[in-house]
Formats: sequence, C-alpha cells, structure tokens
Amino acid sequence: MARTFSGIQPSGGMHLGNYLGAVRNWVALQDKHQCIYCVVDLHALTTAPNPADLRANTLTTAGLLMSAGIRPNDSTLFAQSTVGEHAELAWMMECTVGFGELRRMTQFKDKSDRTEFISAGLFTYPALQASDILLYDTELVPVGEDQRQHIELCRDIAERFNNRYGETLAVPSHMIPKAGARIMDLQNPQDKMSKSLDSPGTIGLTEDNTSIARKFKRAVTDSDGEVRYDPAAKPGVSNLLGILAAATNRTPEAVGEDYSQYGALKTDTADAVIDLLAPIRQSYAEFMSDPTEITHLLAIGADKARVVASATLQRAKDNAGLILHNNSYNNSNG
Ligand code: TYM
Repeated sequence: MARTFSGIQPSGGMHLGNYLGAVRNWVALQDKHQCIYCVVDLHALTTAPNPADLRANTLTTAGLLMSAGIRPNDSTLFAQSTVGEHAELAWMMECTVGFGELRRMTQFKDKSDRTEFISAGLFTYPALQASDILLYDTELVPVGEDQRQHIELCRDIAERFNNRYGETLAVPSHMIPKAGARIMDLQNPQDKMSKSLDSPGTIGLTEDNTSIARKFKRAVTDSDGEVRYDPAAKPGVSNLLGILAAATNRTPEAVGEDYSQYGALKTDTADAVIDLLAPIRQSYAEFMSDPTEITHLLAIGADKARVVASATLQRAKDNAGLILHNNSYNNSNG
C-alpha cells in the first residue's frame, strides 16, 4: 500500500487553514494509504516555546487530530521527539542540503524577519522536515500551499543523497488540494491564516458557533460590492469563496455564481464552517477528558513508527559509510 506522511507543529492554535489545507486530506487518505502522521515537537523548538506549553500543546494537537478523524489504530500517530531517528537522519540531511538552498526558503525569510533571535535550527528546519518524510519511504505528502517549497527541497535532497550513495531514499510527491490550500486571515486577507486563535481573523478548530459567526460577519471584504473570485484584486471576497468552496467540495468560481451580496456569502460561509467544525469540537471535549489515553496512543504510535524509521536510518548510514555495530559490542561482551 502507498505510504503517506505528514506533520503539524504543536503550536496550540490549530485553525481552519490547517484543517482545510491539510488535516482533512489526512483523514480521507486513511482509507487508501498506509498513513503516518506526526506532531513535530522538535520543529517547534526552533522558536523556544515555554516547556509546559510545548508539552501541553503536543497532547492537545494529537487530541485535535484524533477528534478531526485520524484513527490511531489504522494510522500511525506519534510525537516526533519520541522517535530519535528523526534527529539522527536530520544531521545527514543537513550534510546533503546546500546553504544556498536553505537561504532561499521563503518560510525562513518570513519567520526570521519576525523574530529577534534566529536559531540555527530555524535555518536548517527543512533538513529535519526532509528527515521526517524520507524515514518512511513516503510516496505522498499532503500539505497546504505554504509547504510546497519545503517538499520540493526534500525531493532534491533525496535525489542528491541517492546520487552520492546509491538508491537509498524514496523520492516523495506533495499533494496540495485544489480548494483550501491557502486560507487567508479574515481581517487581513493578504496574509495567511495563522496561529493566534484570539485574533479576529483566525478561526480555531474548537471555536464556538457564536464566535465563528461573529468573525465571518466582520470579515474584511471591499467596497465594490461585486461577488467574484479574483484573489489578487479581491482578496477578502475570494477568501470567503475559497473557504465556502472547500467546505462544500465545489470550486470558488462556481460558488461565486450563486451570490450577488456579501452579507449572504458571509452567512452561508459561517454556517458551512460551523457544520464542519461542530463535530470536531464535540469529540475533542471527549478526548481531552482523558489525556493519559492520548499519551498512551502516542506511545503505541511511536513504537510502530520506529520499526520503519530505524530500518531506513540503518540503510542510509550504511550506504554513507558510517560504521554499524548492530549491538555486536554487547553480544561479544555479554
Ligand atoms: P504547520 O504546522 O505550519 O501546518 C500544518 C499543515 O497545515 C497547512 N496550513 C495551511 N493550509 C491552508 N491554509 C493555511 N492558512 C494554512 N496554514 C497551515 C500547512 O501547509 C501544513 O500542511 N513544516 C510543517 C510541519 C512539518 C511537516 C513535516 C509537514 C514538519 N515535518 C513533514 C509535512 C511533512 C509546518 O510547520 O506545518
């Protein structure tokens, strides 16, 4: 069966963009592929979060993924830091990727512009991401548009590694949805929707219905009054059309033909999002009533992941000329 891998940062603020751009497809792929999903807590360290927050957010992110429909019995769901192979292969990936390639990453440029202390980890972030993907002989990586460049770099890294050391790593493809791949902020529709859930432009995955309705009602549009899908000229209206299209499995252009007024478009988009998120919010409340069960499920997921990851890491080390002991020291001294 084809293998799918994807990851999400435990930022504490899973939002409608994460869901429509990525997680919804993760759920659907479970019926067709062998799926491995990872809460990437090591990636979160690049911006030095508070330790208690990081630990709590790793659990709530896993809880949210399960509430959204990830089935830990069918798929593998785990936290990145609990499978040490990720950090170990990442070093080999850092030695395979070029400084110039990392410098061209737009996510690095955006994030480093916004932080005072720029860690080396923030710069080499895509090497760890490549390690995540390549450890599992991944064919498909379902992500939102903002991850396209990272997945393309991951392909280049895998190909360079294979050219140097012989066929070792499977070269993956990204899967980016037609609708929902880039959900914008409701207040600043020229910016991507992102983390801070108390922002009036972000819809959180567990937000209550009244708050969702209010945020859509206040969504920024424009003053020409025409409903038309044109992201460059009409970012606010196009974002609403994009959200409604993604939520109802249509195209934004087709949805646009049904509306002549912004008010009706806003109300219907809010209602569609409420229908989509209400079941997630309900099942999240149930999951979070027993967080130890989440920890337990993540531990089982890590054991499953490690079986595949360790085999790939051994192959990569061997082909690159690193010595493998296979516990012979212990054996000969035991
Ligand atoms: P992260 O945690 O920022 O986002 C998780 C997923 O959500 C998508 N996404 C969006 N899609 C549409 N509209 C938006 N506004 C929006 N915001 C986020 C992202 O594209 C992503 O698919 N570097 C990754 C995590 C990662 C990873 C990996 C992904 C680490 N290792 C290996 C795939 C494979 C990240 O920070 O995603």
